[in-house]
This record gives sequence, structure tokens and C-alpha cells, in this order.
Amino acid sequence: GIAILDFGSQYSQLIARRVRELQVYCELFPWDAPAEQVMALRPQGFILSGGPASVYAPGAPQIPDYVLGSGRPILGICYGMQALAHALGGKVAPAPEREYGPAEIETQLPNPLLPMGRQRVWMSHGDRIEALPPGFEVLARSPNSPIAAMGDLTRHYYGVQFHPEVHHTPGGKDILRRFVVDICGATPDWTPTSIITQAVERIRAQVGSERALAAVSGGVDSSVAAALVQRAIGDQLVAVFVDTGLLRQGEREQVETTFRKTLGANLIVVDAAETFLNALKGVTDPEQKRRIIGETFIRVFEQEARRLGTIRFLVQGTIYPDVVESSAPDRSRAQRIKTHHNVGGLPADLSFELVEPLRYLFKDEVRLVGEALGLPPALVWRQPFPGPGLAVRCLGEVTAERLARLRAADAIFTSELEHAGLLQQRPGSEGESAVAQAFAVLLPVQSVGVMGDQRTYQDVVALRAVTTQDFMTAHWARLPDDLLERIANRIVNEVDGINRVVYDITSKPPATIEWE
Ligand code: XMP
Repeated sequence: GIAILDFGSQYSQLIARRVRELQVYCELFPWDAPAEQVMALRPQGFILSGGPASVYAPGAPQIPDYVLGSGRPILGICYGMQALAHALGGKVAPAPEREYGPAEIETQLPNPLLPMGRQRVWMSHGDRIEALPPGFEVLARSPNSPIAAMGDLTRHYYGVQFHPEVHHTPGGKDILRRFVVDICGATPDWTPTSIITQAVERIRAQVGSERALAAVSGGVDSSVAAALVQRAIGDQLVAVFVDTGLLRQGEREQVETTFRKTLGANLIVVDAAETFLNALKGVTDPEQKRRIIGETFIRVFEQEARRLGTIRFLVQGTIYPDVVESSAPDRSRAQRIKTHHNVGGLPADLSFELVEPLRYLFKDEVRLVGEALGLPPALVWRQPFPGPGLAVRCLGEVTAERLARLRAADAIFTSELEHAGLLQQRPGSEGESAVAQAFAVLLPVQSVGVMGDQRTYQDVVALRAVTTQDFMTAHWARLPDDLLERIANRIVNEVDGINRVVYDITSKPPATIEWE
């Protein structure tokens, strides 16, 4: 595989995703990770990420000696290039002008990394290379960067001042392919089929003839993790699905059908709706709701686990970004806006050994593996749904009656969107203007209406639909007027207790996608 050293760039994970998209296995390490840990991957080459520092600043991250001593090809990106130049005797200095945004580079010297001629790239840097290290040649220039790319074609050391990993560099994927495949000689064999084969072997080796327990929530990660383990050990897996009563219409049935009929898995459904409703009685504070739901889930799950007797292993759907985030170099921790939690995410102090078959997979890979395992597309490509479920979309008190109202309105909204072909099929796919997430929110507000000749005083439902790439920022979706009108009519006519529908036209930020 390829080892990517993270010097603190916001794009580091993106580099890893691009390399994986080339079907080449890679791992991301903090730049100062222990040499043994990185070399255990037996890297065929190294990619050094960008980063916010200046190489000549005191304490700036440097290229570790073992990397230069490995004899393997190196590609430095932005800061990675500067660190390479600095380490090998070149000169780095502040550029006369910061360069940020699109630029055009031109390659005049035939080389294995960059195609000849001009191409558009994305620049983002304040420093630049003033003098090449011995043995290097200029591979590309741009008007602002006389050394936009450099290479030592003998040692196979390369550096690019721009970012090949971002989509604003259209030829970037090809550059990365030339590096990992042509220069490093990595084989593109990281496919869903080979991922499954390897995972199955590893799970069998770990679990042996013991039993394993999995909590499935209906979400992508927990489902794919359970399906992989089921593929590996069959009926030694007990999958537990807790029906919290906070699910959307048809969700429980979908999980039952998928696991029992499609996969033939051993699935236990725990009907805990009453337990959750009792625990939530009288609670209106969003954070308190989340806390209560998290705690109740653990209690219900533990009780079920105890009933099943001693089970040694617990399956967790931890994915690679979670693993990487927890060891990333001092990237400032974002302020907590809400306590995100996933039903199915259990504390590690339960006395289980963990099976984490998705630990090295990105979300896109988890989905492809899910498809290859035969999970239904509706599950594999479903939009995000918060762990606390409808409780955080039922503003005010959560009661069975209010949940039923919300569920019915939500089903009308989403089925109309789906029918109109406006729901994005593949979340996160680039350049989509389709709706990435859409749902109804029941407000704790009544308003006056008139139906026939009768005055009504009933609940208000808000509709939320957003377009987004990453759910960190989002725009409200510009839905067609006539569609909104039909949805509003249907909700008011078909759902008892609702006499008004409003549409949420705030972006994130300043609003969040969910209302609680
Ligand atoms: P916000 O509301 O913070 O949501 O803009 C961003 C994305 O995260 C989802 N979300 C959650 N997902 N557990 C989850 O797994 C949670 O507690 C949770 N809260 C929000 C939300 O649906 C959106 O996609």
C-alpha cells in the first residue's frame, strides 16, 4: 500500500480517498507516527500532505528520516513539497504573493508524474520553493510559481505546489494514478470483492467458533458491518435491532426483511418503544432527549445481551474517518454544537472484545461493500438519519400521538420527493443539486386554521430539504412551488391534527440541518 503522512492539511483525508478510488490501498498517519507503525504497512511509496506551517518556523513538522531512508518514491504536496525541498537542501521562502485558487501550470520536461503541456490546478500556499535541492529539476511552472512542480527522476522524489487531490484540479486523479501505479508500482486491487474476501478471513481468524453480537440500527455502517460478519460466521452472529419507536415509517420492516429474508441472518427485534416513550415523558430539552435516548439504548441492549448468555464479541461499525480523526495532528477540535450520537454506538467498557470490520474503510467503500453483499440500494444509499431518531424532529414533548403525526407527514413529504425524482440517489456524489436530506419536523406550536366552516387550532409541520456535499454546510433546496403545494395539501388533508405546513429556508450555517 501507500503511506500518506498527514502534516495537518484539511485535505489529508481527501488524498487517501482519491488513492482508494484508484483501488490502491493506503493508510493515513500523523507525520510523527512511530516508524514501525508506518513501515508495518510495507509502503510502496509515500505521499506527504499539505499543512498550515512554514518549514522554517521553529518546531515545524519535518520529514522523518526513515521515509528518506526507505528508498521508496515520495510525492510531496504543497507543504509536503516544501518539507521535501527543505530536507534535501533546497530553499523555501515566503512567496511575494500568497497564491490561492485556480492557476495554470505548464510542463515542458517529459517525466513520469505530469503530462506534457498546460493544465488547470488548484493552488493554496503562502511559501514557495526558491531553489531546488541538488538532483531535482523543474517539472512545471505557473505564472506565480516558477517551481510549481519538481522532481528527482532518479530517486523518484516528486513535489507539487498545487493540490492534485481536490476536484478543482481536473487532472489531479491522473497525477495521483501516475504516482501510485506507474511510479510506486502499486497494484489496483482494492475492490469491493477483495475487501470482502480479506475482511471475511480476518473476522474468521478473530472470532473462530465463538458467537458475536451486533446492534443494527438500520443505518449503513451498522448494517454493512453486521452483514460482513454474517458472511464470515453465519449463525454465530446474533444481530439485535432495537425498535425505539422513534423510527420512520417502514424502517423496522426494511431491517427485518433485509436481515431475515435477504441475508438469512439471525435477527432479534426488541420492541422497546414503550420504554423509550416512558423515559422521554415530559422531556423537551434537545440535549436531555439525546442523553436519555443514548442511556436507554444501552440499558435495553445490555438487557438483551444478558438474556442471550455469554457472547464474547461485539461488532462495531467504526469507519476509517473516525479512526483517523482521533489520531490526527493537533487540528483544533470543533466546538460541540450538539451531542451527536448513534444508537448502536456502545461504550467500550462493555465486557466485549470488539470486531470492527469497517475500521479501514471510507464511507464510499462501506457503501460499495454493502452493495456487493446484496444489501438493498435503499439501505446502502439512504440519507443520514440521526441516532436519536424522530425524537429530535418532534420538538417539544415526544408522545406516541405526536410521533404518529410526524411519521405520517414525513412519509408524505419524502415519498413525493422521491416520486418527483428529486431525492439524491448517491449521497455525497459530486456536483449534485438534488436533495441530499429531507424530512418533516413537528413544531410545538399550534396555529389557527379553517377547514370547511370550522375553526381549527392544530399543529404546525415544518419541511426541511437541503442540498449539500458533506453535511457540514448546506443550502435549502429550491423545490418547485407546485410540488410544495401538493405536499402541503396532502399533509393537511391526510394527517389528523396538522393544519399548517411551513418550509424552512435557512442555510447551514447559521442554522443546522436538524432542528434540535
Ligand atoms: P446538523 O443538524 O448538525 O446535522 O446540521 C448534520 C448531519 O448530521 C445528522 N445528525 C446526526 N447523525 N447522530 C447521527 O448519527 C446524531 O445525533 C445526529 N444529529 C444530527 C443530521 O441528520 C445531518 O445529516
